[in-house]
Amino acid sequence: MQAPGQKRKLDIGGASSLAAQAPGGMAINPYSGRPFTARYWEILQQRQRLPVWEQRLDFIDMVKKNQTIVLVGETGSGKTTQIPSLMLEALPNRGRKMIACTQPRRVAAMSVSKRVSEELDVELGEEVGYNIRFEDMTGTKTILKYMTDGMLLREAMADPTLERYAAVILDEAHERTLSTDILFGLIKEVLVQRPDLKLVVMSATLDAGKFQTYFDSAPLMRVPGRLHPVEIFYTPEPERDYLEAAIRTVVQVHLCEPTGDILVFLTGEQEIEDACRKTSQEIEGLGDKVPPVLVLPLYSTLPMDRQRQIFDQAPGPRKPGDPPGRKIIFSTNIAETSLTIDGIVYVVDPGFAKQKVYNPRIRVESLLVSPISKASAHQRAGRAGRTRPGKCFRLYTEKAFKGELMEQTYPEILRSNLGSVVLQLKKLGIEDLVHFDFMDPPAPETLMRALELLNYLGALDDDGNLTELGSMMAEFPLDPQIAKMLLYSPQLGCSNEILSVTAMLNTPNPFMRPRENQRAADEAKGRFNHVDGDHLTLLNVYHAYMNNQESSSWCYENFINARSMKSATSVRAQLMRIMNRFGLELKSPDFQSKDYYSNIRKCLLAGFFMQVAHLERTGHYLTVKDNQVVALHPSTVLQHKPEWCLYNEFVLTSKNYIRMCSDIKGDWLIELAPHYYDLKNFPQCEAKRTLERLYLKKSRAGS
Ligand SMILES: Nc1ncnc2c1ncn2[C@@H]1O[C@H](COP(=O)(O)OP(=O)(O)OP(=O)(O)O)[C@@H](O)[C@H]1O
Ligand SMILES: [Mg+2]
Repeated sequence: MQAPGQKRKLDIGGASSLAAQAPGGMAINPYSGRPFTARYWEILQQRQRLPVWEQRLDFIDMVKKNQTIVLVGETGSGKTTQIPSLMLEALPNRGRKMIACTQPRRVAAMSVSKRVSEELDVELGEEVGYNIRFEDMTGTKTILKYMTDGMLLREAMADPTLERYAAVILDEAHERTLSTDILFGLIKEVLVQRPDLKLVVMSATLDAGKFQTYFDSAPLMRVPGRLHPVEIFYTPEPERDYLEAAIRTVVQVHLCEPTGDILVFLTGEQEIEDACRKTSQEIEGLGDKVPPVLVLPLYSTLPMDRQRQIFDQAPGPRKPGDPPGRKIIFSTNIAETSLTIDGIVYVVDPGFAKQKVYNPRIRVESLLVSPISKASAHQRAGRAGRTRPGKCFRLYTEKAFKGELMEQTYPEILRSNLGSVVLQLKKLGIEDLVHFDFMDPPAPETLMRALELLNYLGALDDDGNLTELGSMMAEFPLDPQIAKMLLYSPQLGCSNEILSVTAMLNTPNPFMRPRENQRAADEAKGRFNHVDGDHLTLLNVYHAYMNNQESSSWCYENFINARSMKSATSVRAQLMRIMNRFGLELKSPDFQSKDYYSNIRKCLLAGFFMQVAHLERTGHYLTVKDNQVVALHPSTVLQHKPEWCLYNEFVLTSKNYIRMCSDIKGDWLIELAPHYYDLKNFPQCEAKRTLERLYLKKSRAGS
């Protein structure tokens, strides 16, 4: 490597191929206008070894000759980090237009953009930035923007031909998230209108033929090879208990394998927290003869600061001369694609993930633990062997891998409630959903359910056209029910409070429960409880935080996560700006008034009237109209069993649970949503009989 500042040839590619030579021989970064730092040259050497680098000239040539390219390259070959910067080079005449690279996951968008900012030797948030929901790390100088697929879709609402971009790179296309699938159809149309726009669709594990056909016979670029090998091991016999097997494998790796960190894939928060605890205990129990470990969880509802800890260094040796410690990460499939966590050498893959499923008949979307696909298994293995050779332990047999796993995971659009998607498509001006060019069209019944939901919420009229209310709802980066509740809140005079509840619902759980202090944490949480439910409990937390001047030490003393609260205030401010734009008034009811809390609860119902359960005489709850037996989730603060209970989520585990619950009154149902609680359209059940009495009472009172 040459020392910075020395005279050198400038045709080594990357930003340096565009670099200008300043007087005195110093190479200048064309993007920032500053001389390159030593770090730039150091990383450049690593980049030059990547398989994608080998083909950079071919890629640039292909971009010049084609509008769309499908690119398939092994995990870790350099797609996500190199292709977007190559695109900058391929399109020198892009003017002020940017390059967008989408990621299905927020943590990937953030961490990859950080890496690329280092590679291009610029500050993150300046020339290279990221944009995820409620967090925009870009600025006026940004030319390369990593973003979640959902954010690009949102931008398309205001900028339907994506004028701000010279190229769009849809990364991890095999994941087939809802947003990526919609972007496929949209961008396909934009490409016709904008011959100058370039599109790259890429992944390590996509069915290239299918994508090429869909994108009008786009050419395929294959990048063979990876930087470091990954050795795969299978279990000889099926494992009965994958959690126990995973922990056992981790302990064995720690005891027997050379230095290197471990990444384990599990299915959800509870399981991951359990595994973290058990693994720490087990390894601590082995005494100080074995090296120390840092055990970390990773799941999407974990506050961002704790998610970022996965990039921390592993602990050092217990004493000089001893082997170094290890980092052990237990993660959901949010770490399955895209991520490079430096130091990960071992991957443990039990072969399961929680997958979204939607049953349009009973309108329930839930997460079910299911076997993963071959593509997922491949991606998981690909998290090892990125910065050195790796090993992947699959806790299933090779026979099961070959014979039982599906090739690809089903596209999310076939497994989801499409309420938000349909609202967004309507806002994008797509009237005819049936003829939209979906790569895989959703089931007609699912589309019908989405139209029905939006019609009940008042977002679509009876002919399926977007109403003014619907158009406003679509502007909020929120579920349609929550957007409706927010838009209705000024009418009930409680928009300030509903805004706070909404912000809290859209930030990670604020309640901390450290292992060593569980009782004190539960007591602290108890002080925020509101008898009428979980929403008002969240509001209590928010108010208490504000009354204590947003103090971090107050948070600490009360077992509240300060980062979550900071995030809640930021989310609240962003939503407030959208409300202001529409001229929606921010009001608070008189705190002394007896209607203070009931108006807030009524307003929840204005959005969630289709998510209500009724307590039957037998003592269990039935969801209204769909008649599913459900129980209050153990996390609820509701101590009494209210006759009517509103809920935000339907959780399917060993039993059906409803989560995030509030007590509401039967009278409010017929007051706020008579169109939905129209008894002509109601199955026979106890709820119907109760409602009949309420209607009767109301008509008597009226006459
Ligand atoms: N944060 C980082 N620290 C160290 N090395 C990194 C980092 N990010 C990327 N790299 C290096 O760059 C390589 C390419 O990463 P990149 O994310 O571009 O791969 P990819 O082809 O997109 O892989 P995948 O299909 O898994 O998303 C990695 O294998 C690793 O060697
Ligand atoms: Mg990638």
